[in-house]
Order: sequence, then structure tokens, then C-alpha cells
Amino acid sequence: MRSSLDRSQLVAELHPATVQALSQLEIHPQLDSTNHYLMTRANEGMAGGFICIAEQQTQGRGRRGKIWYSPAANLYLSLLWRFNGRIEILHGLSLAVGVAIANALRALGIQEVGLKWPNDVWWQKRKLGGILVECGQATNECYAVIGVGINVQLPVEIGQYIEQPWCDLHTVLGRQCPSRERLAATVINQLILMMQRFEQIGLPEVLTAWRRFDCVNGETVVVHLPHKILTGRACGLDDHGALLIENAQGIHTIHAGEVSLRIA
Ligand code: BTN
Repeated sequence: MRSSLDRSQLVAELHPATVQALSQLEIHPQLDSTNHYLMTRANEGMAGGFICIAEQQTQGRGRRGKIWYSPAANLYLSLLWRFNGRIEILHGLSLAVGVAIANALRALGIQEVGLKWPNDVWWQKRKLGGILVECGQATNECYAVIGVGINVQLPVEIGQYIEQPWCDLHTVLGRQCPSRERLAATVINQLILMMQRFEQIGLPEVLTAWRRFDCVNGETVVVHLPHKILTGRACGLDDHGALLIENAQGIHTIHAGEVSLRIA
């Protein structure tokens, strides 16, 4: 069993501007889900800038109601952030989070980090991490709980339950693998920076950044929609962040939500 995260080492790696933006930093040995924990705190009125990390999760949440297997030795982190205005302003937030995580991993030495629409974190066509953004509306503001899971050292026995090719940081970086404290701090620094900028920069800038990490562009993909399966060539994102798929029937616009995408 790996040792637990050292809080002071993690804090030492945070930028001063990040420290200023944080209201809480909690590290738990075990939670059901860091997203569930922060959604509950959000409903109780806790301030934004709240980071919650768990060493393990017993009911880790993935996209589309899936389980996020969460044994010790990986990173499970959520951030509660509050925004002025209605929930519609959060359109594009999950893409922005993908850019923040990809920037963090690149800063840690993973040159080939990529994003698979809508927001899987990839390395050489294998899943390295996932992002789950859950949102809520309060009186004059809205909030988001941004959950990030990154495989650091995932046991093969657990990996066999993951329905797609996967990898972990130890495989990617070997001896250059950063400590989990440095990994967590780098992710937090990039997330806070992105949250502070998100309201000003707008979707076009987010999309320009996202496209630089797009790792399915040009690939033949199979998209599972709620009522049909579509096969075609991925041709990037439109100006709203939807995925474009081209096949013999024409160009199809796929909106995020209950959609899964695989390379054919
Ligand atoms: C995906 O399905 O790809 C999204 C996975 C998101 C997992 C993270 S781990 C930290 C946070 N807490 C959760 O319960 N889920 C997210």
C-alpha cells in the first residue's frame, strides 16, 4: 500500500495565486466520491475554491453513470467553483477543464498527452484520466464541481474492468514519474488558472486550445448515441464545441451528453 499524500509537500508546490484562490483543501483517506462530497458541500452553501482529494473512493463516479474504479495510489480530486450568472454560462466548461488537465500533464513531461472528445485524457490512444463536471444553480449564481481522476499506478486486476485501453503515469513516465503531491499541485494550479480565466476568455479561445490536443481528429470512430450507432471520420469540433463526424450520409453534429466514442 502506498503512503498517503503529504499535505505540506503538496501545498509547497502550489503557486501563490492558487493559494490565494483556495478556500479549503481537504485530503481524505477514503470517500464515496469526491464529486458527491463537494456537491453536498455546495448545496450547504460552502464557498467556491474548495479542493477535495481522496486516497480512495468507494463509489467513484464516471461519465454516463459508470463506475470510476478508485483503488489507492491514483489521483481523485474535485474542485468546487462558483460563477456569477445562470448555468448556461458554463457551456464549454468541461472542454476548458480538459485543456487545463492536458496543460498540467504536459508541464509534467507527458509530451504526447491528448484529449478525446468530450473530455477523456489520453496518451497514445489509451485512457490516462477522466473528467466529470457536475453543475448546479443557486439564486444569483451557478456552481460546478469539477472531478478529475488520473491513473498513477493502476493495478492490472482493476484495469481489466475498464472497457477501453488504458494506461497510467508510471507506464508513461517510468522513473521520471512525479510524486502524487507534485501531480496534484500541478493539476490544481492549472485548474484554478483556467477557472479564473474561463469567464473572460469565452468559448472560441477554449476551442482553439482544445483543438491542439484533439487526438481523434481524422480517425474513423464509432459513436454510440442513445438510439443509434454512427460510424464515420472525426473532423474536429464546430464553433459550439460539438463533434463533427463525416460519413456517406453527410456531416453529423454530435453534442456531448449520453454519448460514447471509440476509435474503430
Ligand atoms: C470519466 O468517466 O471519464 C470521468 C471520470 C471522473 C472521475 C473523477 S475521480 C474524482 C471525481 N470524483 C468522482 O466520483 N469522479 C471524479
